[in-house]
Amino acid sequence: MRNIFIACDTDSIKKVKKIMQYSQIKISGYRIGYKFGLEFFYSKNGRKFIEKSKVKNLWLDLKIFDIPNTSSAALKSLKDLKNISYITVHMSGGHEMLKAIKRISKKFNQKFKILGVTVLTSFSNSSIKKVGHTRPIKNLVRKQALLARDAGIDGIVCSAHEIKFIKKICKGMEIVTPGIRLKGEKLNDQKRVMSPKDAFENGATSIVMGRSLIKGNIKNNIQNLVKSLK
Ligand code: C5P
Repeated sequence: MRNIFIACDTDSIKKVKKIMQYSQIKISGYRIGYKFGLEFFYSKNGRKFIEKSKVKNLWLDLKIFDIPNTSSAALKSLKDLKNISYITVHMSGGHEMLKAIKRISKKFNQKFKILGVTVLTSFSNSSIKKVGHTRPIKNLVRKQALLARDAGIDGIVCSAHEIKFIKKICKGMEIVTPGIRLKGEKLNDQKRVMSPKDAFENGATSIVMGRSLIKGNIKNNIQNLVKSLK
């Protein structure tokens, strides 16, 4: 079953409830999930809401990125969140950090899967140069995919344009793609973008969509997504 994660990018519990209410629909072959990022988690009652939620298939997208000791301690401090299925760490944290994360995750028997975030989908080849990288994004992502595989990370977050070569490196691992837009939609800050249908056809095991689904009429947006998958 492939996942469609709705990014609950808001600081409002009311809005999250609305998103959940309007997205409780069956889409044959797909399972809906919910992604909570920094905005919601940092908000006054965000963590508590997540902790109490009975909804399945939750992804906590905190993109942990620090030295190995701090990163693994951060993960440890999430151990009471028993209902989380996925959590993200930045691949740029490197092998030691990833190993420390895996160690802590095993020690506390945490059930969630660790997803490694490669180069953010808001980067283009020209903007990545400005942070000092000289390689094209594809090469960087390839390196990070090797690192994820070797560190025993459960899945990769990348743009849909990178799925094909990642599949060859990360056999059997989950491949989750943000940067998803319906045909003709605004890209906003996203640069490496693909449609939901094309991303799945390329081999994504999950996609994540935020603004296309949660801005404006949520019901209509979800209907448009369902139509686009046919
Ligand atoms: O609104 P939009 O569909 O662009 O949102 C994409 C979501 O995916 C955001 O919540 C963002 O934090 C997340 N994300 C991303 N790129 C990554 C990893 C996560 O856009 N590489």
